[in-house]
Amino acid sequence: MAKDGNNGAAPFLPDQRSLTALRSAAACCQGCGLYRNATRTVFGEGPAHARFMLVGETPGDQEDRKGHPFVGPAGHLLDRALEEAGIDRAEVYVTNAVKHFSFTLRGKRRIHQRPTAAEIDACQPWLAAELALVEPDVIVVMGATAARSLLGKEFRVTKQRGTPLPLGEAIAVATIHPSAVLRAPDRDEAYAGFLDDLRIAAAARRSS
Ligand code: URA
Ligand code: SF4
Repeated sequence: MAKDGNNGAAPFLPDQRSLTALRSAAACCQGCGLYRNATRTVFGEGPAHARFMLVGETPGDQEDRKGHPFVGPAGHLLDRALEEAGIDRAEVYVTNAVKHFSFTLRGKRRIHQRPTAAEIDACQPWLAAELALVEPDVIVVMGATAARSLLGKEFRVTKQRGTPLPLGEAIAVATIHPSAVLRAPDRDEAYAGFLDDLRIAAAARRSS
């Protein structure tokens, strides 16, 4: 079987399961076509046994350049909201459902493009492996892509956000993506809703 193309990430997972081993193996993943145009794999980051795991969609332009998740505009919004919700960044492992930047070119600009269902599914083994190692108490599922990866394709963030749900041994709370807050016609309202959901996640941690 060719290790390139659309066979998914599974053949690239290392035998040794540690975050360090996963991160270095993911750097060479060719489980879907996204590795071809992106600069690098952007793997999850945070304490090995963080109590919160936050899952986004795909790295953005800045994340792709710098190699770290949530360091661009969406990341700044996320940092502010975490602080307001009383969630300490030091307790948080941050990652993405898809680990290479998905984009199209408009002139010289790289414009974010939502990953396809096939790409989300291809990348799922990395996320599953991170979850199995970190074993967070609470998983914050940010946006439809992360929801598809973790909660299945029937899940609707708009209808089911803000409700704690069991996910394995953890509690999942779905919410909108911080980029959706930045794009919202009424940003203040969208931010307030995002913050409410993060507060629900913080409370779920306290009661878990
Ligand atoms: N959006 C995401 O989903 N993830 C990032 O890392 C940055 C922006
Ligand atoms: Fe592998 Fe995921 Fe990158 Fe696709 S997006 S090449 S599955 S790490």
